[in-house]
Amino acid sequence: MINTETETAVTVSKKYFDVNKIREDFPILRKKVHNKNLVYLDNAATTQKPEFVINKINEYYTTMNSNIHRGVHALSQTATEAYERARIQIKQFINALGKNQIIFTRGTTEAINLVASSYGRANIKEGDEIIISHMEHHSNIVPWQLLCKEKNAKLRIIPINDNGELIFKEFEKLVNEKTKFISVVYVSNSLGTINPVKRIINYAHQFNIPVLLDGAQAVNHLKVDVQDLDCDFLAFSGHKIYGPTGIGALYGKVELLDAMPPYMGGGDMISKVTFEETTYNELPHKFEAGTPDIAGAIGLGAAIEYVSNIGIENIIEHETSLLEYSTKQVSEIPGLKIIGDAKEKAGVLSFVLENIHPHDIGTLLDFEGVAIRTGHHCTQPLMQRFNIPATSRASFAMYNTKEEIDVLVNGLKKTIKVFG
Ligand code: ALA
Repeated sequence: MINTETETAVTVSKKYFDVNKIREDFPILRKKVHNKNLVYLDNAATTQKPEFVINKINEYYTTMNSNIHRGVHALSQTATEAYERARIQIKQFINALGKNQIIFTRGTTEAINLVASSYGRANIKEGDEIIISHMEHHSNIVPWQLLCKEKNAKLRIIPINDNGELIFKEFEKLVNEKTKFISVVYVSNSLGTINPVKRIINYAHQFNIPVLLDGAQAVNHLKVDVQDLDCDFLAFSGHKIYGPTGIGALYGKVELLDAMPPYMGGGDMISKVTFEETTYNELPHKFEAGTPDIAGAIGLGAAIEYVSNIGIENIIEHETSLLEYSTKQVSEIPGLKIIGDAKEKAGVLSFVLENIHPHDIGTLLDFEGVAIRTGHHCTQPLMQRFNIPATSRASFAMYNTKEEIDVLVNGLKKTIKVFG
């Protein structure tokens, strides 16, 4: 049953966090891999989906599938309501002022590309500078590189220290009258570092420089409040917060979004079309050309409802205890070096093992049923900074347990034995 806009999408957080009960909500966690219990520790790549989300997607296709914003018939109206309700759920979740500030995208990557293409092309000129950091995901590097190439602008990089923290003083030095945009990751996917984004935004705003936050790994691990942060843009993906793949959102300040030209042309983003001229629809539709991923948006809304019901504070507390426990456990393994030792860290444990390639670690752990990610994690410049080709990365979610970390640690010990 679809609630109306007036209903509260977010219910009060439970005081009691029961990880075993939560695990029952995720059907895939009952799966065996190589005859072992699945230990899923690749949550920074994508999280698993609770039945609640799966059922909402199913409900959409079985009871209301039709196109939105266009039809006068009942199905279309119901689908439109469900889609727009998801927008409201996101608005409430990140505490945006208006639902017109939430634009559905395919995910973080598309959201950043939207800003780089639309805001960037309209505002960045030859000789301007754009600042990113050394720990960015490729999706927060390449769109700005493309823009800089096109405009003959310059990309400047905030350096990081050996712990994997941004060097704030160096950031301050990079900002000058040529700086026209800053785009930084809130939580690093490779290191787990939580960046001091509020400080960065405050500093940038003294010089009227807009700041985009890549929130892909933030919205699922932290309480993100766009008004409190005062960020100009926030990008995030649904699939990293227990929602479906192929859907995400861009939040933007109204005055910026309003002034930006459309990103893609097509149906739904127009107000009037003639062969001579086209006028555009109002926000957020101006940026949502074509039939969107309606089921995906509804699934993302459901994921946010699910997370809100569990309580982001409860999730943070649980994941922090997993990170502390795992850090302590792996620190006792000889030859293991943690990559990324920031004071402020969330949900990610990256490491290298002396003389064993991460891919071998990943393969052997897989035989134990343990899924981790190995590789450069789409952050090649960061790997270059640490002078390593790759890391092994365990990343945590609300459904992980200390027992699963023990399985990981035992698997690592076995791997070391195999490689002698
Ligand atoms: N960006 C995702 C990761 O870190 C895919 O694994």
